[in-house]
Amino acid sequence: MTHIDRRKFLGYAAAAGAGLLLTRTHGEGAPGKREKISGEVRIALIGSGAQGQVLMNSCLKIPGVRFQAVCDIWEAYNLRRAQRMLEKFGQKVNAYEDYRQMIAKEKGLDAVLIATPDFWHAPQTVDCLSAGLHVYCEKEMSNTLEGARRMVRAARQTGNLLQIGHQRRSNPRYLHCYRKLIREAKLLGRITTVNGQWNRAVQPDNTWPKGAVIDGAILRKYGFRTMEEFRNWRWYRHLGGGPVVDLGSHQLDIYNWFLDTKPRTIVASGGIDYYDRKTHEWFDSVLATFEYETPQGKVRAFYQTISTNSNQGYSESFMGDQGTLVISESASRGAAYREPTAPEWDRWVSLGYLKAPASEVTKPQTDAVLDVRETLAPPSFELPVKFDDPYHKPHLENFFNAVRGTEKLNCPPEIGYETAVTVLTVNKAAESGKKITVDPREFVA
Ligand SMILES: NC(=O)c1ccc[n+]([C@@H]2O[C@H](COP(=O)([O-])OP(=O)(O)OC[C@H]3O[C@@H](n4cnc5c(N)ncnc54)[C@H](O)[C@@H]3O)[C@@H](O)[C@H]2O)c1
Repeated sequence: MTHIDRRKFLGYAAAAGAGLLLTRTHGEGAPGKREKISGEVRIALIGSGAQGQVLMNSCLKIPGVRFQAVCDIWEAYNLRRAQRMLEKFGQKVNAYEDYRQMIAKEKGLDAVLIATPDFWHAPQTVDCLSAGLHVYCEKEMSNTLEGARRMVRAARQTGNLLQIGHQRRSNPRYLHCYRKLIREAKLLGRITTVNGQWNRAVQPDNTWPKGAVIDGAILRKYGFRTMEEFRNWRWYRHLGGGPVVDLGSHQLDIYNWFLDTKPRTIVASGGIDYYDRKTHEWFDSVLATFEYETPQGKVRAFYQTISTNSNQGYSESFMGDQGTLVISESASRGAAYREPTAPEWDRWVSLGYLKAPASEVTKPQTDAVLDVRETLAPPSFELPVKFDDPYHKPHLENFFNAVRGTEKLNCPPEIGYETAVTVLTVNKAAESGKKITVDPREFVA
């Protein structure tokens, strides 16, 4: 913790002790703390690497949002690239290496987007919130629970908004599945099982252009020992959380959301099975199982992320006694399958909740030879919601609308925290090889 962070943290701790922390419901800023913004929302980007540039591209498609500054420690490469790109779109921005300088100097900023490596999220978020800014911070909220907790408390104490970048929470296809299919139509009946995966092909480590090496003193100032570590921070224990935190957090967030609860137990197996242990400190493969207690009964869930094979990519599958829902952020995947014994879904088709299967496959094929109730090719009911925008755009729009006071955040820090507890506990379970029971109170920051 830096001197500044520590000072601020102690301030929050004192405020909490004195009962000064505001209690609010999810996604509401403390009322009256800031003026509502009716015109242009003025923003800065901290971290203009791969994801920072994805966020930037989405923001350039959202009316009423203007970049005023960009901050990145990779001056010769990502910082200049982002600055040039914004200029091309008529947004002349000031460039900074140090975010503290940026927030001290820039006047009139309303919000920042943070897309730096995970270990920077807590100090940057806390400092920006304390400086009176609203924050959109990428997942994983933090690489430590202590960091994530400080973020939740800073949002509460300052009354400024904090959206965590689990962007599926604003994706119209996921919203349709949750609100219409699962909650309203109860299409799946009693959900008993969840499966999910993110299978990724072998990837070489990230490199860097010869002429763009960062000076060692600057790297060390920002917590990196080498360029190799700077470019591949996800694999290092003190900087990131490995694939299950990086990728799994998106999907385990959906498990918690769709089941409306958090896991009670977690068991996991993980290891550095394939990559070089000198440069890959986190598990490259993790297989985890979870037990959820829901009002309808127990749900067992499985999740895997592997870094050696991309077959079937990434998706989540919710299975109940009346049907299955398969959903993915990938717009080409998403369908529901009715169990042969379940009531017809005609009503939901006529209401527009689902698209009817193509007529030639309306009958499920069961394995007649073995005479088992095994559905081999169930009719596939497609989702009716088309979503062709960049994946992150609706989540950013939700954030800017919350800043304007017209919407509530879809992923406020309390929810980000629940997901952080889930994914960080998976790593802990894989480390210990033991089943971990999570007390529900541990999900509260
Ligand atoms: N929501 C999503 O789908 C999604 C996808 C990819 C990444 N992410 C998240 O976005 C974040 C960034 O990931 P990435 O893939 O863009 O990594 P990256 O390494 O490509 O980019 C990180 C950038 O941050 C800069 N940086 C590092 N420390 C900094 C500091 N202290 N101040 C300012 N700049 C700093 C680096 O120079 C680099 O340009 C991570 O938290 C990651 O988990 C989210």
